[in-house]
Amino acid sequence: MKTISLGEREVRAAVSMREAVDAVRRGFLGLAGGEFEMPTRTVLRDGGFLVMSAQHRPTGSAMVKTLSLNFDRVPAIAGTVVWSTLDRPDHLIADAGAVTALRTGAAVGVATDLLAAPDAGRLTLIGAGGQAADQVRAVHAVRPLRALTIVGGDRARALADTLRTELDGTEIRTATDPAAAVGDADIVCCATPATSPLFPASALPAQVHVNAIGAFRPTMRELPDELLADSTVVIDELAAVLEESGEILHALRSGALTRDDLTELGTALTAVPAPPGKRTVFKSVGIAMQDWAIARLLADKYLP
Ligand SMILES: NC(=O)c1ccc[n+]([C@@H]2O[C@H](COP(=O)([O-])OP(=O)(O)OC[C@H]3O[C@@H](n4cnc5c(N)ncnc54)[C@H](O)[C@@H]3O)[C@@H](O)[C@H]2O)c1
Repeated sequence: MKTISLGEREVRAAVSMREAVDAVRRGFLGLAGGEFEMPTRTVLRDGGFLVMSAQHRPTGSAMVKTLSLNFDRVPAIAGTVVWSTLDRPDHLIADAGAVTALRTGAAVGVATDLLAAPDAGRLTLIGAGGQAADQVRAVHAVRPLRALTIVGGDRARALADTLRTELDGTEIRTATDPAAAVGDADIVCCATPATSPLFPASALPAQVHVNAIGAFRPTMRELPDELLADSTVVIDELAAVLEESGEILHALRSGALTRDDLTELGTALTAVPAPPGKRTVFKSVGIAMQDWAIARLLADKYLP
């Protein structure tokens, strides 16, 4: 039995964001097609520890991820991804921080490609932590960015400096007021552990695509009800958001949304596109299939 162990650098070297977006798109289509066994994740200490698993029926392969989360710590998210298959005894273990950031970005890339206007090129990112850079890389992979505004303090300035070395031809600036910063955006990414909406719906342009990946507990919220009521809303998975997404649960309770207003991304990928001109929202709490999709790319390279 062989056990391959991959650190952050090896994960990054093996998987580009373009590959991650394509793999996660195939994963969402497979999920909609019933290819995955994926239990609701185990949450311990109100989100301090998570255990996630997914099994892909056609290939007899599985991914199990364990995470610890502490937003007063850098990195906030740390843990291990384990990949195994039924046909051989070998295992692959990978840094879960890198896999999580890649797959969370990749889901946003898939949704943005589907939902944002074809000429969208102005992104506002709120949050400048562990997820932030890959949110930008994923959007840039599907909508080449002309302008990027990062909302935050010192970490936003450091992230802007990093991204300037990667994104040719993108005008990058930082800002401190989320409401002012979303006013001229084509695309907004929210990646914070906020517990109340980051901006009012009235701060957004009439046409905009908003991704919100931060809230993963019923007590957390990044988006206001008024935005959800007025938008085409796509989610990663219904069972997961009904268990964990503070903004979706809040909007269902207030009547801003009904369950019929929610479309899973895998279904949306094969459905009639959202009417042009309407605001669109992608809400993700993060599901194990996404980690499986990245782990499969790693296994293809390191356990051929
Ligand atoms: N949906 C998913 O699949 C998924 C995956 C990973 C992480 N997450 C979630 O995304 C969020 C961000 O994760 P991270 O690893 O980047 O965390 P992090 O702690 O590294 O960074 C958080 C960033 O948000 C900013 N922030 C905190 N509270 C804020 C507020 N009220 N308003 C504006 N900005 C605020 C911080 O200054 C920091 O820049 C967390 O809630 C995390 O659980 C979701």
